[in-house]
Amino acid sequence: MTLNRAETPQRRLEARYGVTSDLLQPFWNDTIDSMLNHRSVRAYLPTSLPEGALELLVAAAQSAPTSSGLQAWSVVAVQDPERKARLASFTGGNAHILAAPLFLVWLVDLTRLRSATRLHRTEGEGLDYLESFLIGTIDAALAAQNAVVAIDSLGLGSCYIGGMRNQPQNVARELQLPPETVAVFGLTVGYPDPDVVTDVKPRLPQSAVLFHETFSQPTADDLVAYDDTMKAFQAKQSLPKVGWTASMAKRVANADALHGRAQLSEILHGLGFPLK
Ligand SMILES: Cc1cc2nc3c(=O)[nH]c(=O)nc-3n(C[C@H](O)[C@H](O)[C@H](O)COP(=O)(O)O)c2cc1C
Repeated sequence: MTLNRAETPQRRLEARYGVTSDLLQPFWNDTIDSMLNHRSVRAYLPTSLPEGALELLVAAAQSAPTSSGLQAWSVVAVQDPERKARLASFTGGNAHILAAPLFLVWLVDLTRLRSATRLHRTEGEGLDYLESFLIGTIDAALAAQNAVVAIDSLGLGSCYIGGMRNQPQNVARELQLPPETVAVFGLTVGYPDPDVVTDVKPRLPQSAVLFHETFSQPTADDLVAYDDTMKAFQAKQSLPKVGWTASMAKRVANADALHGRAQLSEILHGLGFPLK
């Protein structure tokens, strides 16, 4: 993906929502431009990243805010093709894990906090609660997204892999994860294949996500309008024109639709998270 800095803010906003935009642009800069231009990349060149790239991306990730400074996350960088293949098999697909030179597996990691409690002889009971797991998940997501913002700004590409949660025990075995750690998602990273065009995927209209002062339900019109926007996007991508509501309804239809993740709370207990 090459950064097309020639696009106007207006065109960036129109691509983001897939419709003409009347949003004001009271300010604009390269950061916002790159964020609005984000798209997931699933086709990569077989080119390795330069030396130091991984560490710089992790510095960007570590620059994200973190709940009370707890820093309850870690990341495993996987470059070995055979390990990537095994991890991909646990997700039931995602060939882009193999194509990308770098696969980052982001963890909730409470082990350092457990060590701190041992050093200071406190019970560390707080770590046993859902709250601590949630903090680790939020921290990992913020860190990873900071890396994604950096990746996009460099014209590199990435794609999150939630499929890491399909078989978390197998991922844990593969990465030799200790108790009180779990992979929450992966991220493929690499140079986008210029021969595979990826487009900006339109988001819900702001009327459906931005409320003033108190919550308000989006109208049926908002959702129908977004279905139309997505159908137009899908047609452009030569994908089935299903819209948004139908595919989301399918995605959450029942436990089977969760691809093995319906058992997640029991699995997390087994990985050392009591989630009280
Ligand atoms: C937590 C998370 C998990 C995701 N898991 C996958 C995945 O397993 N496979 C995949 O191809 N894309 C995955 N994605 C990418 C989303 O499908 C993508 O972000 C979404 O469709 C919006 O498209 P965009 O990123 O191009 O704007 C995931 C994204 C997130 C945030």
